[in-house]
Amino acid sequence: MTTRQAGDVIGGRYRLAAELGAGGFGRVWRAHDETLDVDVAIKELRLVPGMSEADHADRLARTTREARNAARLRRHEGIVTIHDVLVEDDLPWIIMELIDGRSLGEHIEEIGPLSVDRAADVAVSLLTAIGAAHEEGVVHRDIKPGNVMLAGDGKTLLTDFGIAVHDTDTVLTATGMLVGSAEYTAPERLRGADGLPASDLFSLGATLYQAVEGVSPFRRATRDATLAAVLLEEAPVPQRAGRLTQLITRLLDKDPDARPTVAEALAIVRGEQPTRVRIRPRVHVQHDTRSLPAPIPTTSWEYRTIAVIMALITALGVPGLPDAGPTWERVEHDSRVVIAVFDVLASGLLCASLAQLLPTAVGRAVTLLAQAAGFGFGCFAAGFAVHGAAKTLQAADVIAQQDDAATASLTALTVAVLVAAALTWQGRRQRRHEPR
Ligand SMILES: Nc1ncnc2c1ncn2[C@@H]1O[C@H](COP(=O)(O)OP(=O)(O)O)[C@@H](O)[C@H]1O
Ligand SMILES: [Mg+2]
Repeated sequence: MTTRQAGDVIGGRYRLAAELGAGGFGRVWRAHDETLDVDVAIKELRLVPGMSEADHADRLARTTREARNAARLRRHEGIVTIHDVLVEDDLPWIIMELIDGRSLGEHIEEIGPLSVDRAADVAVSLLTAIGAAHEEGVVHRDIKPGNVMLAGDGKTLLTDFGIAVHDTDTVLTATGMLVGSAEYTAPERLRGADGLPASDLFSLGATLYQAVEGVSPFRRATRDATLAAVLLEEAPVPQRAGRLTQLITRLLDKDPDARPTVAEALAIVRGEQPTRVRIRPRVHVQHDTRSLPAPIPTTSWEYRTIAVIMALITALGVPGLPDAGPTWERVEHDSRVVIAVFDVLASGLLCASLAQLLPTAVGRAVTLLAQAAGFGFGCFAAGFAVHGAAKTLQAADVIAQQDDAATASLTALTVAVLVAAALTWQGRRQRRHEPR
């Protein structure tokens, strides 16, 4: 990685704002194009110490080709647009469309798997984008959850045609290097059949499997075990894929000729194609290595802070439990009643949102129950906290008058609720896109 930092200007016009993420080949920045006054994303390639000149030249060539491949596809709404490539610090920097969202991989890690309906929408968008690329003679070769961007406006975009090779472009395949993520790579590619469009469909199958199951079908504890699983094992039968089960299973067929084409796959998602039964197994299949469990989604610090604020509100509610009436009477018949009702409802919603802290493994029904229980609990806690805080203030001789204590406790509760609501908003929006 270069030593570039936020605030640096690249190419005399792009000011780096914040790091969005890092992958195998480098890191991606959020940046501002000071000439056109728009935000962009910039991919910076990793500078490996001691890299040979040949490798360096290979990096440059691959990046230029990435830009060329993506430029050919720039009009497709399901593909991230590349604006420019420039060389700085002797390395290429790719200037591309900034997506306000996160990758599917990050979504699964932070929030959990997608619902079947959402995954079906994602499947349709990706199949359309892959179909358009194949028509242009471009095979992606690295389709994986990290290269699928879920934009905040609901759109799905495919990115990183970094190792994609145009049909007529054989220069870099000659190196025989395995580029791409092994667990999503089609078995025939691992055996050396490179650049088949059907291989992209296998990677799509593994990506969609992870989207609904939350776990990558062929990920194993070691790289060798992963390669063996891709080559020899059938993916575990999806448990949560619903109407996508047939599509995913067929995309993951070891035999590239047996996989559906893009058009057939689209027909399957849309329920337009009858089930085609295949006789199995055609390949030597083993079931003796264990899949790794789904990771527990990482919960952000915002939710932990909200939990602390809600615990404080609950603690204040305890002294108010026996007789909540007197303070509420001060609030009633007053315009402040609107604020009080807002506080109570917002506290309920905030407690409900804490279900985000649950691991995905607990399932949808338990999460819904936790949300409902959280909502009820939050409403009650805030309802009693208004009185509890007023009583506490009076007992501590901070405020003597009941009226003033009611106002002060309502103000404190409102501030706490607003802070927690702002943190929830922050936690939900794509935090990575906020300059820090
Ligand atoms: N055009 C983009 N707009 C916004 N974020 C992006 C864009 N491209 C990549 N990212 C973010 O940067 C992260 C790192 O990307 P990358 O270096 O390609 O690694 P990988 O594909 O292995 O995840 C991605 O996970 C994604 O969140
Ligand atoms: Mg990527």
